[in-house]
Amino acid sequence: MSQPVKLFIPGPVEVSAKTFAAMTAPMIGHRGNDFKALYEGIMPGLKTLFGTQQPVLLSTSSAWGIMEGAVRNLVKKGVLNCMCGAFSDKWYDVSKRCGKRAEPLQVDWGEPIDPAEVDRKLATGRFDAVTLIHNETSTGVMSPLAEISDVVRKYPEVAFIVDTVSSFSALPIAMDQLGIDLMLTGSQKALALPPGLSLFACSDKAYRRAAELSDRGYYFDLLEFKKNAEQFMTPSTPAIPQIYALRSKLEDIFQEGLEARYQRHRETNALVHRWVESNGFEFFAREGFRSVTLTCVRNNRGIDVAAFVKRLRQEHGFQIDGGYGKIKGYTFRISNMGDETSASMEPLLEAMNAVLRR
Ligand SMILES: Cc1ncc(COP(=O)(O)O)c(C=O)c1O
Repeated sequence: MSQPVKLFIPGPVEVSAKTFAAMTAPMIGHRGNDFKALYEGIMPGLKTLFGTQQPVLLSTSSAWGIMEGAVRNLVKKGVLNCMCGAFSDKWYDVSKRCGKRAEPLQVDWGEPIDPAEVDRKLATGRFDAVTLIHNETSTGVMSPLAEISDVVRKYPEVAFIVDTVSSFSALPIAMDQLGIDLMLTGSQKALALPPGLSLFACSDKAYRRAAELSDRGYYFDLLEFKKNAEQFMTPSTPAIPQIYALRSKLEDIFQEGLEARYQRHRETNALVHRWVESNGFEFFAREGFRSVTLTCVRNNRGIDVAAFVKRLRQEHGFQIDGGYGKIKGYTFRISNMGDETSASMEPLLEAMNAVLRR
């Protein structure tokens, strides 16, 4: 690599030197008091971030592990997969691969999930679980979580499974208040940790449902996680350096203050939005439903996206994303999640101007 490249892709994002340094703390055994103290020490902060009274569980896997585990543990009758982009579409495929009866609620990419449609589907009585991706990273769409949770609440037998992978900690998401039964996130998005750890929490209803299912497997068995978390342990050997990094990041988050953190994400996001508008581009996501952590730009100017991305990287050392899946090249994505500030994002926007001008 000729020069260090700074990441502005929607995960993994840039990891701070402080976080990396935290990962080098001495290794400890995961069944001993040192680990229990580590996990117990971060639990209150994690509960605050999740907006839950439930234990927050740590899985040494990427988010897909818990996304698959959620389906295996919580779907008995049938699952409604809300689909509005690459990751939410894939969850339908994964549900079927787990041998579950799954039905899509598909909207066009760029559109959010409509609460009224969720209501119509759940009213059929065919489902006891629903999956929703709050912030669809491929399209930059943020679906209306509060309105959808109001709908799901009307159906007590339905387990509400919510992926907050690319929105968690960038805006408030109060799991218990929203009636979410399983909420999950990953480490490499707004938390700005290296990839490889996922975090999740479950409601009592989720644990009761899991107990009714016999083929939960082991690695992602919710009841194993719960039993172990009661002793501040994990079912299997966890990625301890990642958990050191998480401890360090929680210090940063609470030092900054949650409101300041949310405000910073709104500001950096608005900065990117202004860049989009002032350069004659459009947004891929419908107005009113745009992510605060990334911007999916519609390539209405017909630029050569691959060349644009390549030159930004080679000439300026910034990595943005050239579009995901079927909208690659028709869109490009710029992340503002993690530790970014207006000051740290300005050089990227200037570099994008410079590349576009030539
Ligand atoms: C919203 C969302 N959900 C799930 C995933 C899958 O995460 P992972 O690849 O870390 O398992 C991603 C990855 O980008 C994502 O953006």
